[in-house]
Amino acid sequence: MTLTGEGVLPHRVSADRLRSLVREDRVHRLLYTDPSIFELEMDCLFGHTWIYLCHESQLPNPHDFVTTRMGHRPVIVSRDKRSEIHVMMNRCSHRAATVCRSASGNAKSFQCPYHGWTFRNDGELTGVPWPDGYAPSFKKSDWGLTQARVESHRGFLFATLNHDAPSLLDHLGPAATFMSQWVDRHPGSDVVLQSGANRMVYQGNWKLAYDNSADGYHPAFSHRSLLKMAGREGESKDMVYFGTSPDEGPMTVQDLGNGHTLLDQRPAYCAPGTTSPERGSFWAQQRVGPGRERLEAVIREKYDDADVLLDLTVGSQMNLNIFPNLLIIGNQVQVIEPLAVDKTQLTWWSTTLTGVPPEVNALRMRHQEDFPSFGEPDDQANFEEAQRGLAIPEVEWVLFNRGFGIPGRQTLDADGVQTAPVTDELPMRSYIAEWLRQLECAP
Ligand code: FES
Ligand code: FE
Repeated sequence: MTLTGEGVLPHRVSADRLRSLVREDRVHRLLYTDPSIFELEMDCLFGHTWIYLCHESQLPNPHDFVTTRMGHRPVIVSRDKRSEIHVMMNRCSHRAATVCRSASGNAKSFQCPYHGWTFRNDGELTGVPWPDGYAPSFKKSDWGLTQARVESHRGFLFATLNHDAPSLLDHLGPAATFMSQWVDRHPGSDVVLQSGANRMVYQGNWKLAYDNSADGYHPAFSHRSLLKMAGREGESKDMVYFGTSPDEGPMTVQDLGNGHTLLDQRPAYCAPGTTSPERGSFWAQQRVGPGRERLEAVIREKYDDADVLLDLTVGSQMNLNIFPNLLIIGNQVQVIEPLAVDKTQLTWWSTTLTGVPPEVNALRMRHQEDFPSFGEPDDQANFEEAQRGLAIPEVEWVLFNRGFGIPGRQTLDADGVQTAPVTDELPMRSYIAEWLRQLECAP
């Protein structure tokens, strides 16, 4: 199936109309409030480009599966008996009922609960009850589950319904290198997503979360209480450096192409394995947290490479955003799931590492409770208040103009990556250009 299939675009918004709503330094409020634009995004963007679905560590064994969505489409991600991964529409080819209704599990086949059609976990239709009721022209091989194209990079699984899309690696471009840097913080270890995800729903458009994920302008104000609490321990503590004149510091935001963006806090941290008189060490810059002192003492007592291990418990200091729905933040993987034009689910998946002592993963998990509990509520309150403001029809524009039109403020490297001071709204301008490109050329 391709997106040119009949009936795929019931909510067509013209390319001219979309272009009229996007300017170089601003976007129209309708991008966040218009149900017909939202439906176009769900049909085309969340089907036409590569969409992050899940991590391979969630499907470690043959016959494991998870269910998720591509826009409004329910999908099954499964491993077959040869460990090959398939992404299939969770939609019975008989009369459309979902064939799998569990979030995850292990199954060689899925039997549709409605009339009992059975599909192998690679999508083939293998069983139809009382087959004598079908004409000789009926062939099971014609009626398997509809398949998407699937590719992965460093354990991150993506799918698209556009069989003409560039390869995932081409689509990721320079972002693939940053994904590898994130995975390779401890060479030899694999990253494992833990099943106890932290799900939150806010009343606002999904793009408010993507806008925010590389926004270095807001922490000083939105996360004032968090910065104040951490600042009691010194100016170099995690995120405190956002509080005063962050553009004068070393942090940056980057446009990685194809809508992917990065907010890089790493330059504000000691490099892992090093120390400095002002900052201490990568480990020392982490904020206070429950269990920190006790677990640090155990790790220092038991392991010779304690300094290296302690650094691994601290977040990566990267906000790496893979357009449109994957945010790799600290040590967490955050997924954006649009539910309605003004309703979005955000899921934070915590990660552990293979091949490190259990105390290291325990401390790593404790640190990952920090920002989703202390910081994310600040952000989601602002997303909901922004959605309320966006409802005012007379005030039309949302500004992304910070850093725009100032000669010499951005630099461009040989890979085509643009870099700007950390409070610039370069990431929003760049991903919206990709948003428009994807939607205006949608079939
Ligand atoms: Fe699935 Fe009828 S809808 S068997
Ligand atoms: Fe924030």
